[in-house]
Amino acid sequence: MTIAERQQKAEQLLRAAGILPVVTVNSLDEARKVSEALLKGGLPAIELTLRTPVAMEALAMLKKELPDIVIGAGTVLTTEQMTQSIAAGADFLVTPGTPPELADALAKADVPVVPGAATPTELLSLMARGFRVCKLFPATAVGGLAMLKGLAGPLSELKICPTGGIGEDTAADYLSQPNVVCIGGSWMVPKNWIEAGQWDKVTESSAKAAAIVRKVRGQ
Ligand code: 3PG
Repeated sequence: MTIAERQQKAEQLLRAAGILPVVTVNSLDEARKVSEALLKGGLPAIELTLRTPVAMEALAMLKKELPDIVIGAGTVLTTEQMTQSIAAGADFLVTPGTPPELADALAKADVPVVPGAATPTELLSLMARGFRVCKLFPATAVGGLAMLKGLAGPLSELKICPTGGIGEDTAADYLSQPNVVCIGGSWMVPKNWIEAGQWDKVTESSAKAAAIVRKVRGQ
């Protein structure tokens, strides 16, 4: 697959998700239960962050045990993590920021990639490598809706997944922007719910998120 084809796949995958929960877990049991709760609420795709020691093992386990879930590796910071995530079966990769060496490796990776950036210059250097689907991070801190509207003119080919600081109350506004393909966030899976095993709350919040996607898209 060419990078254009892989980016098309990334776009399809994010568009189908609409809202991408950013999930951090501390055990395989948490990974399984939170993923089941998200699926039950109607969110079939997740970004599992590589921020905990168990993350890579959890990714491989989820790919085996929950084939209905689309699972991306998030917080990919190095080429080593990129390689390990692909080996663990990640359906896609997400980075919070993308320095040149990582961007070069990701441009050749054989999975869809959503590289992160925070400025027009960073986005342009990703576009120069063939990326057309990028994560804006941390979205609210770098200008939020105004930033997305500003990028739509000069970077009109770009599809964006803003993440960072978005919540249930602002999700619809973000998702309604024409250059936004999907939004990411952890509001459906906050640390305290996961630690307390409050899976019903995860399901309830995911169901609300899925309803926001349907409403914005008139479905
Ligand atoms: C991320 O890594 O993308 C963020 O942790 C998600 O941002 P949020 O927690 O502000 O939703």
